[in-house]
Amino acid sequence: MNPRRANPPYANALALLLWLASPLQLQAQSPASTSSAEPKPERQQALLRTLRQDCGSCHGMRLTGGLGPALLPQAMREIPRASLAAVIYHGRPGTPMPGWKTLLSAEEAEWLAGVLQGESAASPTEPKSPS
Ligand code: HEC
Repeated sequence: MNPRRANPPYANALALLLWLASPLQLQAQSPASTSSAEPKPERQQALLRTLRQDCGSCHGMRLTGGLGPALLPQAMREIPRASLAAVIYHGRPGTPMPGWKTLLSAEEAEWLAGVLQGESAASPTEPKSPS
């Protein structure tokens, strides 16, 4: 699995445009719908592993930045969740930030964006202690 194997940049840009134009996006931006559907617990753990391992390879083990910028909650809260989810899902064309849509759904990208904003019980950096 190679996160760098992305679609050509124009495909990402097109997908982003389509996504921005979709009713889902309008809905996601309305303040009434801040809570998105939560993935199942096992899937949450898998997504968090991706966050720590794959995202951490560029954004730093503790998300304090590396090749990619720091993704700490304070800064992430300044950015609308839908925008963060779009960057995660589609990547940012012209930069090393890959899109993750082959590995997760739009809803899951939205959930991870919420995790980055510190609005989930799940910590973006600390694995859940075995209970
Ligand atoms: C190959 C390296 C790489 C990987 C892997 C990667 N990113 Fe990024 N990411 C970047 C870079 C570089 C940027 C900055 C893009 C720019 O210049 O705007 C970025 C930007 C972002 C941003 C926007 C931050 C902001 O302040 O605007 C978010 C959110 C993000 N990444 C989340 C993730 C998540 C979540 C994952 C894992 C699913 C991930 N990234 C994996 C390199 C990476």
